[in-house]
Amino acid sequence: MEPLDRSAIWPYVDGEPGAYYYQRYGHPTGAEAERALGALEGGSALLFPSGAAATAALVLALLEPGDTIALARDAYYGTSVLFRELERWGLQFVEFDQTGAPPGDADLVWIESPSNPLLTVPDFDAAAAHPAPLVIDSTASTPIYLRPLERDADFAVHSATKYLGGHHDLLLGAVVCRDAQAAERLREFRTRTGIVAAPDAAWLLLRGLKTLEVRMRRHTETAKEIARRLGEHPGVERVRYLVRRGRRSRRRPHRRDLDPHDPECHEPRRRRLRPRDPPSLGGRPSPGKPDPAERRARRRRRSLGRPRRSACGGCNPHVTCHRVR
Ligand SMILES: Cc1ncc(COP(=O)(O)O)c(C=O)c1O
Repeated sequence: MEPLDRSAIWPYVDGEPGAYYYQRYGHPTGAEAERALGALEGGSALLFPSGAAATAALVLALLEPGDTIALARDAYYGTSVLFRELERWGLQFVEFDQTGAPPGDADLVWIESPSNPLLTVPDFDAAAAHPAPLVIDSTASTPIYLRPLERDADFAVHSATKYLGGHHDLLLGAVVCRDAQAAERLREFRTRTGIVAAPDAAWLLLRGLKTLEVRMRRHTETAKEIARRLGEHPGVERVRYLVRRGRRSRRRPHRRDLDPHDPECHEPRRRRLRPRDPPSLGGRPSPGKPDPAERRARRRRRSLGRPRRSACGGCNPHVTCHRVR
């Protein structure tokens, strides 16, 4: 593995700042991770402390007050929440169906492939034909399945917290730029605002990228098998899966839909699903089979009993609980 350099400052060279001198301007571990991601994507990568930070930095650096973003309606809901937050600063956004053309008068087009969680795939040609710069959030595709810059995007955006990291132990985001000048502008904005990813997270990304290809292959095999089994389950009406459509059951389904965005998926029905783990997209243990460390953590939590469990917030399997007295 590449070394992890946590220094905040580096010595001057012959009385002048060298390639690295103050961490906010850049650090060697981050630069190494950016090189690795940029090579996979075919552009200039810049890291940010989270996917949301990458999104915020990109639109703030690129757009002016009064500009309008055309945002895919199915995109990760946090993106629209963030854009709504920025409305106070004069940015506007309109949502559109990304399986068709974006509205003509937008100053930036933002699509996501496939969308999280509904898995719609944009009409890439229609988005690329729009005169405004095009952003593709390809968090769920990763460069293994989609290289947005080859689809005429100007920017690829990632929540590296997900598959790129792959071990649910980092929070990180990235923007990959087609154009070197745009990358420079974004880098300058990042330095000035201090929206900078730490060396530890960059190092974890480097680690994740080394196994990305094999992990994605395995995720795909697993997803295909889950889709097959769900497709055959009599209680499931619809399976959202990119390649293979689930078969409709002949028996009357007892649950209308598993889509939590569906207004007909009422609270009592949703509760029946009882999700156990928060989705991380890319963690090692499968949802059905916690690894031994998680099993131990769960046993420990159970042994705390109800009142104490709530006292330590122990519903997260990734949190180590201590007895609270
Ligand atoms: C598609 C997509 N984009 C962006 C984000 C935001 O990323 P982060 O949680 O790393 O800020 C997420 C998070 O779930 C996501 O799924």
